[in-house]
Amino acid sequence: MCGIAGCIGTEAALPFLINGLKKLEYRGYDSAGIAVYDNGNIIVRRKVGKISELEKAIAGETINGTYGIAHTRWATHGAPSDRNSHPHRNDDGHFAVVHNGIIENYLDLKKELMEKGHVFSSETDTEVLPNLLADCYEGDLLQAVWKAEKRLRGSYAAVFMTEKEPGVLVAIRKDSPLIVGYGKNGNYLASDIPALIGYVDQYIVLKNDESAVLTKDSITVYQNGEKVEPEVLPLTMDIAAAEKGGYDHFMLKEIHEQPRALRDCLSGRITPNEPMVNLGELKLDREKMASINKIMMVACGTAYHACFVGKYIYEKILRIPVEVDIASEFRYRDPIVDEHTLTIVVSQSGETADTLAALAEAKKKGSHILAITNVWESSIAREADDVIYTRAGLEIAVASTKAYSTQLLSIYLLGFYMAEICGKMERNEIKQYLDELYRLPEKVQEILDRDPDAIKVLGETVAESENAFFIGRGLDYVVALEGALKLKEISYIHAEAYAAGELKHGTLALIVDQVPVICLCTQRDVEEKMISNMVEVKTRDAKVLTFVFEGDNHGEKVSDTVIKLPNTYDLLSPILTVIPLQLIAYYASVKRGADVDQPRNLAKSVTVE
Ligand code: AGP
Repeated sequence: MCGIAGCIGTEAALPFLINGLKKLEYRGYDSAGIAVYDNGNIIVRRKVGKISELEKAIAGETINGTYGIAHTRWATHGAPSDRNSHPHRNDDGHFAVVHNGIIENYLDLKKELMEKGHVFSSETDTEVLPNLLADCYEGDLLQAVWKAEKRLRGSYAAVFMTEKEPGVLVAIRKDSPLIVGYGKNGNYLASDIPALIGYVDQYIVLKNDESAVLTKDSITVYQNGEKVEPEVLPLTMDIAAAEKGGYDHFMLKEIHEQPRALRDCLSGRITPNEPMVNLGELKLDREKMASINKIMMVACGTAYHACFVGKYIYEKILRIPVEVDIASEFRYRDPIVDEHTLTIVVSQSGETADTLAALAEAKKKGSHILAITNVWESSIAREADDVIYTRAGLEIAVASTKAYSTQLLSIYLLGFYMAEICGKMERNEIKQYLDELYRLPEKVQEILDRDPDAIKVLGETVAESENAFFIGRGLDYVVALEGALKLKEISYIHAEAYAAGELKHGTLALIVDQVPVICLCTQRDVEEKMISNMVEVKTRDAKVLTFVFEGDNHGEKVSDTVIKLPNTYDLLSPILTVIPLQLIAYYASVKRGADVDQPRNLAKSVTVE
């Protein structure tokens, strides 16, 4: 979704602003713009389309000002166009603003401001901000921002500047992330860390309802009008984390980073030959666990699919009923949640608005909230009672890969942790699973190294079709859901996942000559049933592409292609089976010439409901 970058220092601002926007491209956008204070004026340039269009528009211009703000817009109110792009100025041009989020009461504010004579030139909600600010301004930008903020409803991260008060940026944050940072040549801000890498040594994550004043020499943070001492964190992330590192796409790089990401996720949490998971930092103790009679897992998209794996695992090993819900549905259906419910929210970004709202709803109902997230100090991490960080590292491709596999691993760790504390499994059995979890990064590496061309061929075969189906039983079915989503979002092929036993209740009608059906067949207790379902599709002339564990020869007669995966316990299979499905989607997308890392209409972090 939208991205913000800004800086104020001693050197020309433009290079950072453009570079910062490029580092935020992965969030998804349809237009971009900058505002730089130069020689007494705020120069604004905005362009629909890619950042390269904006660069073309300003090529040849000399813009030397040392502070400014920049924005990538993902249209919500008003179509993508030059005039709807940010930064927005007030009608006389003295105030400029960039804004992420939605001003829910903008129509009322706009009407009121128009009655006072303000003139609007865009269809956006954001344009009320600079005009409201101009209306509130009495010689002090910070005071005017605070006065204007009292009138706002909705979610926002916004940054303001004015020609009337040179040398100052004012930032505010409510339900939309904003980070400010100290650098060598001044001070910076951005909606996400990648924009700051290489410029900033230390950063502060603004909390909800905080505001910050940036000058070239200082950053001051306020809460309710009072100065506060914010927590300052070191920015240790290497520039390489935000680069492709020799891969054609971030998605492929991130798929290949999974062995490392999984190892990081395990690090310090399990030790070989120990039957225990170390998650001692959790407030979820034995007493709390004993009071839990239901687990609610809530998330969106890929993270929602990770929750389904959680349901299968937790119900099996903990014998506690687990409900899984889509975050955008959860809060509107008056879910049955109380102090005896453990709510687990899963989110890569930790900023997904729907998941955040679901978290708030569950919290209101007295539930203990445990977040599984990749982003340190994200809104979801901060609002939860407990957090397990997935430690996947920066994920830039819109299609989530290493975030998903580390979410799964975190779900397993929590499950075995609770099983041990609550005495739900024999310690020896837990030890066997933990030892195998320890070996999984190596097995993922084996899948990536073994025969990459075979999976590439599968991806390219799937690319020739307009439809594809993914089938499986048990845990294979829930991984199939993720395989289908991956394929849909980056290759635009219509893909569906089905529990294999459900095919004959309707979907079999769609199985026609040569349609690819990707079959996951790793769950040994339902293997025979699964083979029967594969026969059903093969009989209808589908192209049957099958994944099984090594040593299993059952699928061969009924498949066009069989790929063998390193063996593991059935219970742990999702961490392995998802890898080839990610690769199939990747190669199908490349073959179709689609934009792998930034698929159409999608954004990495969905910060509006
Ligand atoms: C994943 O490939 C998707 N792009 C998307 O479904 C994503 O998982 C979803 O938007 C949730 O995001 P989150 O994990 O950051 O909350």
